[in-house]
Order: sequence, then structure tokens, then C-alpha cells
Amino acid sequence: MSTIMIYASMTGNTEEMAETIAANVRAAGEELQMKEVMDAYGTDLTEHDGILLGAYTWGDGELPDEFLDFYEEMDNIDLTGKKAAVFGSCDSCYPEYGAAVDILIKKLEERGCEVVLEGLKVELSPNSDDIKLCSEFGARFVEKIRA
Ligand SMILES: Cc1cc2nc3c(=O)[nH]c(=O)nc-3n(C[C@H](O)[C@H](O)[C@H](O)COP(=O)(O)O)c2cc1C
Repeated sequence: MSTIMIYASMTGNTEEMAETIAANVRAAGEELQMKEVMDAYGTDLTEHDGILLGAYTWGDGELPDEFLDFYEEMDNIDLTGKKAAVFGSCDSCYPEYGAAVDILIKKLEERGCEVVLEGLKVELSPNSDDIKLCSEFGARFVEKIRA
């Protein structure tokens, strides 16, 4: 069993979440491959049982531009039997708080994937409490994919 994490981060906040989550997934003994979305293809998801997606929210509650090709490619793949979770940094100044997390959860579910954790949204740069939440998110994800 292995997990892939695909993420986008423009100013480093989602990347910090990604690195903390990844460290905790690996610490729990799960093999994890990490890719920035620009280097990823939808078909990468078919090669793993666990999927972690991370994205900040852009525009008026939209996915980052660099996620759009990957998001479209997801329409061509069947994710039945796979387990996933989604995270991202957000900004509560915007009315559509962390909408990219919700958009990705919806797409994963549409493609047959079981989303095993509530999406993790962190306000801007993760503080120490947020880092703890990210650590727990990684550990709980491993528990869920092994259940
Ligand atoms: C033009 C622009 C639009 C944004 N739109 C939203 C939004 O609709 N909802 C939201 O929660 N955050 C929004 N944000 C905030 C970013 O998601 C936030 O700054 C995040 O921390 C960036 O993450 P990153 O450091 O991983 O790039 C927007 C930021 C910019 C610059």
C-alpha cells in the first residue's frame, strides 16, 4: 500500500502543511510520494491506494490555475476503492473560505474515492496549533487507510 500527495502552493503556506502532513504519514510507516501539481498527471493517482491533495484557494473561491489541468484529468480516471483527504491554506478575508479544498473533495467523491477525513483548512501561514492539526491529520489518515 502506498500514498501519493499532490499539492500546489504559491507563497509556501500549503507547502508547509504538506511537509508536516508528509512527515507524519511517513513516521507512521506509510510509503509516500510527494509531487507539486505541475509535475503530476491524473493517472498518477491510479498507482496508489492513498491520495492526499493540497491546494490554496485562488480567485473568487477557485482552484489555483496550476491545478486546472490535473483537475480535468481526474475526469478520466476511476478512483473506486481508494481513500483520500484534502488540505489547504486559506484566508478568511475572502467569502469563499478554502473553497479549493471543497472542490477537490467533491471531485474525488465523484470519481468513486472515499474521502476519509474532513478537509483541513488553515488560515494563512500555519501557527503552532495548526502544525499540530497537520500532524494529527497525517497520523489519522494512515489509521484510516489501514482500517
Ligand atoms: C488573488 C487571490 C485570491 C484569493 N482567493 C481566496 C479565496 O477565495 N478563498 C480563500 O480562502 N483564500 C483566498 N486567497 C488566499 C490564499 O488562499 C492564501 O493566501 C493562502 O495562504 C495561499 O497559500 P499558499 O501560501 O500555499 O500559496 C486568495 C489569495 C489571492 C492572492
